[in-house]
Amino acid sequence: MGDHQAPAMSTQFRTDDVLATKGTTFEDYGLKRDLQKGIYQLGFERPTPIQEESISEVLLGHDILARAKNGTGKTGAYLVPMLNRIDVDNPAVQALVLVPTRELSLQTSKTAKDLGKFLNIQVVCTTGGTSVRDDILRFKSTVHLVVGTPGRVLDLLDRGVIRSAEIEMVVLDEADKLLDRTFQRNITRIISYLPRQDKQLMLFSATFPQSVKDFTRRYMRQPKKINLMDTLTLKGVTQYYAFLEEKDKLRCLKTLFSKLQINQSIIFCNSVKRVEVLAKRITDMGSPCFYIHSSMDQDSRNKVFQQFRERKCRHLVCTDLFTRGIDVPTVNVVINFDFPNSSETYLHRIGRSGRGGRLGLAINLVTQANTEAFSRIERELNIHIDAVPEEIDKSLYVDSSVAE
Ligand SMILES: *[C@@H]1O[C@H](CO)[C@@H](O)[C@H](O)[C@H]1NC(C)=O
Ligand SMILES: *[C@@H]1O[C@H](CO)[C@@H](O)[C@H](O)[C@H]1NC(C)=O
Ligand SMILES: *[C@@H]1O[C@H](CO)[C@@H](O)[C@H](O)[C@H]1NC(C)=O
Repeated sequence: MGDHQAPAMSTQFRTDDVLATKGTTFEDYGLKRDLQKGIYQLGFERPTPIQEESISEVLLGHDILARAKNGTGKTGAYLVPMLNRIDVDNPAVQALVLVPTRELSLQTSKTAKDLGKFLNIQVVCTTGGTSVRDDILRFKSTVHLVVGTPGRVLDLLDRGVIRSAEIEMVVLDEADKLLDRTFQRNITRIISYLPRQDKQLMLFSATFPQSVKDFTRRYMRQPKKINLMDTLTLKGVTQYYAFLEEKDKLRCLKTLFSKLQINQSIIFCNSVKRVEVLAKRITDMGSPCFYIHSSMDQDSRNKVFQQFRERKCRHLVCTDLFTRGIDVPTVNVVINFDFPNSSETYLHRIGRSGRGGRLGLAINLVTQANTEAFSRIERELNIHIDAVPEEIDKSLYVDSSVAE
């Protein structure tokens, strides 16, 4: 079975989350020493691409409109610079992070507490479903940073429990959700409590629907746009689909393995469970493989990924890692064992960061259930995917200078 509990490796390595970075380190930003301590204790090694793009902009006080999803280091991208900017000697609330769910609120405030531990920054997480009385008590002591869901935060503003006069930094995380019809009114009301001038607004959003654009136009001052998806391209990647039934997928994969000249391949599934099951099946088939999924801790993921990069294994089965194009030079075949539901995910799985001009092959296993997504993705990405031919021309994906 794809052994993700690989032995500890002594080498420093970079995960796919940070592969496409420019090589910046956290020292480069001149952050407060006590913040750097928190960063390293949390195990952040290097800034991820979204962090590289965001941290200095936030430090400079710019408004930000960033396209980013969970799992890319997004939270750190705003928390690190925000915590650096908070004046601990000032007991006022200076920063507010709004998120759409209690879980995300808890998780984000936990990260903020961990990062800010040595700075002695006081963080309060406040969401519906907990006692308002407790929250009121907590605001009797110093609070520098509030993380919460819109309903409760608004409630506390209405009651005068959260004093907003010195809130200078505001993050809308998952802004596409926060600005949909459910929350929008409350968000607007929260904004109306904030100082008119000198506040820094930061939006992190997976997509930019009209509601986000409207908000940006209305409230933001020439936001810096950060969109790492812009840099992905499908150039050089030949894409095919095989239309089949769910139960035939494994047989199809077997055929592909026997027919294709795979140097290394990445095989995507849509769930953690399916990754584990498929990795086992592939191994049982006699083709050893590794797997990585989003429920594994970062450390294990890093280890597996590093070993894969060292070509210890030919196949890697994984869920979406929410990364910029997975740039392993020796991967010449990507297989969507499960077809994704969005063009963004498709692009992330198959796209390349456009360097090197290497060739590759992408094979999509498509079932009846995927037909809508398939045509939508073709349309949105302006591509045309052909049915997989009987024989695939090797020159499309095999480096002919090195015949194996
Ligand atoms: C909006 O805010 C009010 C008052 O705080 C709250 O009762 C309500 O649940 C909020 N709505 C949403 C969708 O969060
Ligand atoms: C797939 O995406 C479409 C359009 O965004 C959405 O309406 C649909 O609910 C999604 N389906 C699944 C299974 O996530
Ligand atoms: C496979 O990967 C090796 C290692 O980088 C590379 O040298 C070789 O060109 C690749 N072979 C093919 C057939 O793509």
